[in-house]
Amino acid sequence: MTLAKRLARQEVVDMVPYQSARRLFSSAESQNTNNQQAKQKIWLNANEASGPGIYQLSGECLNRYPDFQPTSLLNAYSQYCHLDKENILATRGADEGIELIIRTFCTAYKDNILICPPTYGMYAISAENHGAGVIEIPLIANKLDITGIKSQVDKAKVVFLCSPGNPVGNLLPQEQIKQVLELTKDNAIVVVDEAYIEFCPQQSVVLWLAQYPNLVVLRTLSKAFALAGLRCGFTLASKEIITLLSKVIAPYPIAAPVAEIASNTLQKDGLAQMSIRVQETLMLRAELSQWLNQQPWCEQVFTSDANFILFRTPFKNEIFNLLKAQGILIRDQSKQQQLGDCLRISIGSKRELELLKQVISANDFPKTSANKFTPTKRR
Ligand SMILES: Cc1ncc(COP(=O)(O)O)c(C=O)c1O
Repeated sequence: MTLAKRLARQEVVDMVPYQSARRLFSSAESQNTNNQQAKQKIWLNANEASGPGIYQLSGECLNRYPDFQPTSLLNAYSQYCHLDKENILATRGADEGIELIIRTFCTAYKDNILICPPTYGMYAISAENHGAGVIEIPLIANKLDITGIKSQVDKAKVVFLCSPGNPVGNLLPQEQIKQVLELTKDNAIVVVDEAYIEFCPQQSVVLWLAQYPNLVVLRTLSKAFALAGLRCGFTLASKEIITLLSKVIAPYPIAAPVAEIASNTLQKDGLAQMSIRVQETLMLRAELSQWLNQQPWCEQVFTSDANFILFRTPFKNEIFNLLKAQGILIRDQSKQQQLGDCLRISIGSKRELELLKQVISANDFPKTSANKFTPTKRR
């Protein structure tokens, strides 16, 4: 065994890292092989926005360390989410929020988190990374299994709920989230991951923070704000929880250019652009959902409240590879619990989605295989 492997923690040596969309198909990697082809790739596999967000950068003061929590950024997000600054922690994406919560509340090799798969992969990866256990209570028909959660909740320090959920896309019923908050109110933190909430803002639970001291809400600029490359997210919680997380986070988590771009994006113009982007996404999502529902090869289209659509098809390998060969990258979710044969498409631009439909429609596999199954439309 090499020196590094002998010295490293065993679970890190054994760990399978999160297979992010970028790790699976890195743009740098494709650029090495064929620059032209890489530029033409259509990225519909990471639930990003298709067009760029707003960038304005003076780039001043890069010789200085940034503020621990840049005031302009906290002011802007505070106005946007209607919470006091003391209830907000800016982080390197919502992913850093997930990691901080686990590091703050779970003692390694002793405490557990509870997740409800199919769900976002980083909760389990961050737990594993830290040496926290993972209790799984799978969703039942895309809803929480409250009885299951109740039976395990005293073993968990942190419960992660994702609403709208990734990769399925549906909201969890607010009544159920409330039930979990009640069940855990004396012994666990409940994290509601609202990475996609701008696509259904009326469903946010952020105002419940006043009522439930054990609630934490995660947000990001990576989705509706079209700033995935910026790496900026927010953890919203009681002042006490924010103070604890602030002890664990790195001393300068938000780079000065990140704070500057993010603060600008959260001003009036940026918010208006975000709203337009959301409206376009909802329209394109409805069109894509309708189209998928009409395809004989499509067995199930899941309801989505986010900027992507999950669907099930017995031809998932054929469709995935067909699109990949044409430079259109979508996400295979079929290894997730309950999601056999499922693929996920991020809502890209109108042109990108038209190309996707054309590539699939130009192929004759639906005809040749039409007799393999009877499509059941469940939407
Ligand atoms: C549910 C969910 N939470 C968090 C994240 C991470 O967001 P960020 O880019 O802010 O780290 C993602 C990214 O895909 C996500 O789907």
